[in-house]
Amino acid sequence: MKKEYLNKFYQKTHAERIEALVSAEIISQEDAVDFKRKLALPDEIANHMIENQITTYELPLGLALNFLIDQKEFIVPMATEEPSVIAAASSAAKIINQSGGFETTIQERTMIGQIALTNISNMNQAEQNILQHVDQIIEKANQAHPSIVKRGGGARSVITRQIEADEQYDSPSFFVIHIHIQTLEAMGANIINTMVEAIKPYLESLTGGTAIMGILSNYATECLATVTCRIPVSLLQKGNFSGEEVRDRIIEACQFAIVDPYRAVTHNKGIMNGIDAVVLASGNDTRAIEAGVHAYATRSGQYRSLSSWTKAENGDLVGMMTLPLPVGAVGGSINIHPTAQFTKQLLGNPTAKELESIIVSVGLGQNFSALKALVTEGIQKGHMGLHAKSLAISAGAKGEQIEVVTQELKQRKNMNLVTAKDILKQLNNK
Ligand code: MEV
Repeated sequence: MKKEYLNKFYQKTHAERIEALVSAEIISQEDAVDFKRKLALPDEIANHMIENQITTYELPLGLALNFLIDQKEFIVPMATEEPSVIAAASSAAKIINQSGGFETTIQERTMIGQIALTNISNMNQAEQNILQHVDQIIEKANQAHPSIVKRGGGARSVITRQIEADEQYDSPSFFVIHIHIQTLEAMGANIINTMVEAIKPYLESLTGGTAIMGILSNYATECLATVTCRIPVSLLQKGNFSGEEVRDRIIEACQFAIVDPYRAVTHNKGIMNGIDAVVLASGNDTRAIEAGVHAYATRSGQYRSLSSWTKAENGDLVGMMTLPLPVGAVGGSINIHPTAQFTKQLLGNPTAKELESIIVSVGLGQNFSALKALVTEGIQKGHMGLHAKSLAISAGAKGEQIEVVTQELKQRKNMNLVTAKDILKQLNNK
């Protein structure tokens, strides 16, 4: 890749950006022709993806630049409707790139399938029976999905949990069996669900209980991705704030999100701005990731910040974050959505673990940019600049008018749709 062609990418016109992708050898000249149509989801595929399909719902897909993750450079595709997200991710990555980039550690990817049983007269006896038959349970689960076993994955271990009856919720006691499954490059929902449904009758016979369901758990606590980054204060100075002040204010901002759930939700929403955009662009399931991540944020018993920002001994700002990230590199819409196939190629056909590294890094970068803006000039200045463009388009500006209206709008005291329409009207009357 000749990444020098991507310099000042944000200042290029749309056509220039596609040309730059060709010059940078990211796409071929042939791919560049009719680029948008080639990446669009054809109706005949969309029609088979869901019931009652009538059209497709489009979102902008953009590229976040400058990411250095585990010493490898990435151009990260992000699908989002929020104007500031890609700019914020790229700007964080540029700073963090200068201090060694993001470092990640990815846990051995293990997914969890749950079977819940009720009507068990003796929980301890049931538990003993299960633990004495772990090998047989694993074998039956694997027999239900031989192809994942052939590829080197499959069911690995079994644990049991006893959940007591809860009068407050009028809930009976549950005896729960977790089966840990390695789904390799896939997120593996179908593999897991096939296995847990297949072993339900066997578990009923071992426990004497009634299996009420078998389903994967999206709380993927055995599929964790951790990222760290380190930023010297020399890279943190902003406006009138010294690097030390910015560092200390970011640390305090994070502490606020650790202790206050009202702030933590917004802080984590900012992290998810980046995470969701990459998860979506990669063809993965955003709802699964959202649900698991927010549950993980409550693991101490209170909803808290997902990230931590602290001061290293030498004064550097150190960021860290661990998230459950059960994404796949194959399967689902990844194999059939032309944009997902393109984004996969753009990321260099990453393994599922590499994709986790990229996603968790984008999340921490997004958080860094948000906090840095919040504790210095505030976010409105940057946001409103980008919002001006959306207003110009909403007002009806087309082609070159968009930039003219945007620039004029930025100078006005009342940056709103009425002003944008006024500016456009004046422009059209010239
Ligand atoms: C806006 O989409 C995200 C932020 O609110 C995140 C944050 O407050 O940390 C800026």
